[in-house]
Amino acid sequence: MPDEDNKIMKTNIAVFASGRGSNFLALAKAVKGGRLKNAVLSLLVCDNPHAPVVFKAKKLKIKTALVRPDIFSTKEAFEERVIKHLKENKIGLIALAGFMRILSPRFVTAYKNKIINIHPSLLPSFKGANAIKDAFDYGVKVTGVTVHFVDEEMDHGPIILQREIKITDKDTLESLEERIHKIEHKLYPKTIGSFVKGKLKIKGRKVLVKIR
Ligand code: GAR
Repeated sequence: MPDEDNKIMKTNIAVFASGRGSNFLALAKAVKGGRLKNAVLSLLVCDNPHAPVVFKAKKLKIKTALVRPDIFSTKEAFEERVIKHLKENKIGLIALAGFMRILSPRFVTAYKNKIINIHPSLLPSFKGANAIKDAFDYGVKVTGVTVHFVDEEMDHGPIILQREIKITDKDTLESLEERIHKIEHKLYPKTIGSFVKGKLKIKGRKVLVKIR
């Protein structure tokens, strides 16, 4: 959307991550490579000072808010500090990328329809922290990746996009993980591109992706 100077208004994105940060890196590359023109990757929010994602952000000179839950007496106080960082950086979209913490209903309401999550299974199957292994061990023949809006329940909000992957007899857990991550690194920037262009419309549990 153009502002009064006729410039494109960009959406400031905060990525929330706790671990490796390969999705964070994929998003940073998409922004840098001009594939997410309406977005700025303004902030990494991380709850673990030793997480590899922190070092990735440092290398890319992306601002990091390291908010350690153990120094706060309540979850509310922890989230208040996170919100302070989000406000200071005028964040318009939160992208969860391996953030291993459940956000409170209060937090989700404060950023209603502005939080999305990537999950390595075809939701609603295999919710939780070990989705790839759970699907592999269960023996399903098809799994995949889901990007969805976040609501008050874990891995539950309206689904934006999904991609399926067939699991073959040749797959090991490692080969499946690798194939899933490869898809995630394409699907997340694509979904965020649709969000920042204002193409996503939520109708109950359904998300309509406007073609134009
Ligand atoms: C990704 O596979 C993401 O889908 C998953 O954590 C991984 C983070 O990897 N998220 C969940 O399981 C959420 N329930 P990364 O740190 O390399 O981006």
